[in-house]
Amino acid sequence: MMLKMSPQGCSVILVLLLTKSVFCSKLGLEIIPAKGEIFLGEGKDFLCKSSVEATIKWMISDDEEIEDEEGRYKQKDIDESVKSLYVTASRFEPDRVIQCHAESESGETSTAQIKLRIIQKPTFVKDVATRKEFTADSMVKLPCDVVGIPHPQVTWYRYGMAITPLPGHLSASADGTLTIEKIQLSDAGMYYCMAYIRERNEMAYKNVSVIVNAAPIVRFNYTNPNITSKSNTSFTCFVTGHPEPQITWKKGDEKVPLDGQKYVLSANGLELSITELDKSDAGEYTCHAVNSYGEHNTTLFLQVIDVPQGVGAGVVTGIILLVLLVTLLAVDLTCYRTRRRGFLMYLATHVLGQSAPRVKLEDTDLKKETMAKSHVVNISGIDA
Ligand SMILES: *[C@@H]1O[C@H](CO)[C@@H](O)[C@H](O)[C@H]1NC(C)=O
Ligand SMILES: *[C@@H]1O[C@H](CO)[C@@H](O)[C@H](O)[C@H]1NC(C)=O
Ligand SMILES: *[C@@H]1O[C@H](CO)[C@@H](O)[C@H](O)[C@H]1NC(C)=O
Ligand SMILES: *[C@@H]1O[C@H](CO)[C@@H](O)[C@H](O)[C@H]1NC(C)=O
Ligand SMILES: *[C@@H]1O[C@H](CO)[C@@H](O)[C@H](O)[C@H]1NC(C)=O
Repeated sequence: MMLKMSPQGCSVILVLLLTKSVFCSKLGLEIIPAKGEIFLGEGKDFLCKSSVEATIKWMISDDEEIEDEEGRYKQKDIDESVKSLYVTASRFEPDRVIQCHAESESGETSTAQIKLRIIQKPTFVKDVATRKEFTADSMVKLPCDVVGIPHPQVTWYRYGMAITPLPGHLSASADGTLTIEKIQLSDAGMYYCMAYIRERNEMAYKNVSVIVNAAPIVRFNYTNPNITSKSNTSFTCFVTGHPEPQITWKKGDEKVPLDGQKYVLSANGLELSITELDKSDAGEYTCHAVNSYGEHNTTLFLQVIDVPQGVGAGVVTGIILLVLLVTLLAVDLTCYRTRRRGFLMYLATHVLGQSAPRVKLEDTDLKKETMAKSHVVNISGIDA
C-alpha cells in the first residue's frame, strides 16, 4: 500500500508515525512486506518494525527463537526499533508462520506474524528438445515436464489452437503428456505446451517441432486419359512422404527422356508435360517416388486418339466442287441469255415448255392449264 503512495503521501504518513511514537508510547508492530511469498531459489528481506524502541526477536513459533542458519535465515538489527530477517528459499518447504516479538522498555509486548510461502514460476525440467522425429504409425508421447508451486496446469496447442482430444488418436494425460497413437504425416507440425499458474497469472511455453517420417505415397487424380494427337498434355503426380521423396517418371520401363522440349518437368518434378502428342506417346506412364523410408509408384495409361484424317481434305474438295458448280451455272446462264443454248435452254424448252407436265391432272384441269397457267397452280394446289 505504501508503495503506491506518492512521496508526499509517504512523508505525511512518516510524520504521523513519528508523532505517534513520540506522544503515544503504545507499542505498534508490523512486518514489511506483509506478503510472505518467496520464489524458490531466491531470498527475501523482511523488516520487523516497532513503533517505539524495543527488543525485537524473530520466532518460528511462540517459543522458538529463530537462529541464523546458513542458506536459510539471517537476522540483523537495523536500529533500536527495526530488525530484519533475510529468508532464503533454497529448497521447497511447506508454508510456515514466523513471528516477530517486541518488548518495549516499559515492559509492553506485541507480536506480529507472517506466513512464509515458497512459490515457483512454471519451469520446464529435463526433456527440453524442441525438435522431435518419429516414424509414421508409431506411438508418440510428448511430455510437458514442468514444475511450479503451486503445480501449473498444462495445455497443449498446435498452430496456436488448443488441441482437442481425439479418442483413439490424440489424448492428454493429467501429468501433461500428449499421446498420439499411430502418428501420421498429417500430425506433423509445430506444437507447444503451455504451463499456467492461475493464481499469479504466470505462464511458460515450450515449443516442440514434430517431424513425422513416412514412406512416399503417390497418386494421379485421373485415370487413363484419352488425348487427341498434336495436342499438348501434362500429368501431375500427387506425392506425400517425408523426407521429401525423389520423383522419377517412366514410360513403360524406360526413364522418360527429359529433353526440355518434348518432355518437360515442372512443379518440382511433379508435373510432366508432353508436347505435340503422337501415336508413339501412347502407353504407360509411371510416377515413382522414393525416400529413405520406402518407395511407391502409380501408373496411368495414355491413349492418343487420331484426329480423323479425311475431314480437312474433304472440306477443301467440297469447296472446290461448289465453286466449279457455280461457275458452270454462271456460264450456262450466259449461254442461255445470249445464244439460247445450253442446259437451261434445254430445261426451258423440254421440261417447262412443251413437254408433259410433271403432275398428272384431270382433263378439265389440263385444258385450263394450257389457257391460264397461274390458275392451274391454284386449282391443283400441287405446284405451290
Ligand atoms: C515458439 O514458436 C513461436 C513461433 O513458432 C515463436 O514465436 C516463439 O518465440 C517460440 N517460443 C520459444 C520458447 O521458442
Ligand atoms: C487434377 O489436379 C490438377 C491440379 O491440382 C487440377 O487442375 C485438375 O483439375 C485435377 N483433375 C481432376 C480430374 O481432378
Ligand atoms: C478412353 O477410351 C477408352 C476406350 O478406348 C475408354 O474405356 C476410357 O473410359 C476412356 N477414358 C476416358 C478418360 O475417357
Ligand atoms: C504445344 O506446346 C508447344 C511448345 O510449348 C507450342 O508451341 C504449341 O503451340 C502447343 N500446342 C498446342 C496445341 O497448344
Ligand atoms: C512399381 O512398384 C512395383 C512394386 O511396388 C514394382 O514391382 C515396379 O517395378 C514399379 N514400377 C516402376 C515402373 O518403377
